[in-house]
Formats: sequence, structure tokens, C-alpha cells
Amino acid sequence: MTPPQTEFVTHSSAETIAVGRKLAALLTPPKFLILHGDLGAGKTTLVKGIAEALDAAESDEVTSPTFTLVHEYEGTLDRHGKRTPVLLYHLDLYRIESERQLETLGLDDLQTDDSIVLVEWGEKFPSVVKRSQGEIVMTSLDGDARRIVLKMKPEPTAAKS
Ligand SMILES: Nc1ncnc2c1ncn2[C@@H]1O[C@H](COP(=O)(O)OP(=O)(O)O)[C@@H](O)[C@H]1O
Ligand SMILES: [Mg+2]
Repeated sequence: MTPPQTEFVTHSSAETIAVGRKLAALLTPPKFLILHGDLGAGKTTLVKGIAEALDAAESDEVTSPTFTLVHEYEGTLDRHGKRTPVLLYHLDLYRIESERQLETLGLDDLQTDDSIVLVEWGEKFPSVVKRSQGEIVMTSLDGDARRIVLKMKPEPTAAKS
């Protein structure tokens, strides 16, 4: 089996939204991923496509959670030929300054069997990196071009007895 394509280059926000729609198929819950990239890299734009694919929101309903910190969208996902419920959480930790402040967000409660948690600026906090299964790295290239790479952490190996 060929591995799923996990690297894309886009040239407009519309193309990034289209990549988000494709990536959604790879994000089977439970997922907790960091959205890594500079301001304006297109992290929030990518979530628009992911939310669309999950029937969780229209792209113009997905806005930056910079001030609200957490946005929650209810959607559905095709699983074994059936649409099953999924919760999409989109977070932005740009304004969070300490682990103590982070605790008030209750990340534990967001990480459920049927949730996809996507965290902008999660790389600021070691505890969030530890929690994450990987990251989607977005890099600005020339002009409107962006590289988007899904990087999953290697599966944990079985503990040695
Ligand atoms: N290829 C592209 N992909 C995503 N956004 C792009 C692209 N080219 C230009 N843009 C613009 O860059 C900005 C990205 O904003 P946003 O998604 O909020 O970034 P972030 O959440 O990473 O700060 C938007 O104004 C968008 O229109
Ligand atoms: Mg953003």
C-alpha cells in the first residue's frame, strides 16, 4: 500500500482549504495535533477545510480562536461506511503565557475518543508537545506559496518487560 501523501504545496488560501479537506480523511479520532507555523502561515485557513470535510462548519464560520482560545465544532466522519459523530476543537495558544493559564483550558476534557484537537502555537508548551501525536507544519514560501506537512510521531514501541 502506498503511504498517504502527507506533503503539499499550495498557492492560495483556496488551495490550502482544499488540502485541509484532504487531510481530514487522515485525521481519524482520537487525534491531538499541533498546527505549527508563523503568523499568517495559513493554520486557521487549513482548519476551514478540515471543518468543511467533517460537515462541522462552513469555511467562513471558522475564525481564529486567538481571543476565544477554543472553538468547538460538531461534525461527522465516514467510518466503516457510516457517518459517525466527531468533535473538532480548534485552539490558539498564542496569548497563553504559562502552564498554569494553560491548565484552565482543560485539555484533558477535550481529548476524547471521538475528538480531533488542533492546536495553534502548541509548540510553546512542552506539556502540549508531549500530549500531541504529531504536528502539521506550515511554512511560508515565496509569495502566497505555503508548504504543508503532516508529521506524525512514531508509534510508541511496546514497553520492554
Ligand atoms: N497558500 C496560502 N495558504 C493559506 N493562506 C494563504 C495562502 N496564500 C495567502 N494566504 C493568506 O495568508 C493568511 C493566512 O492566515 P491564517 O490562516 O489566519 O494564518 P495563521 O492561522 O497561520 O496565522 C490569510 O490572509 C490568507 O488569505
Ligand atoms: Mg491562526
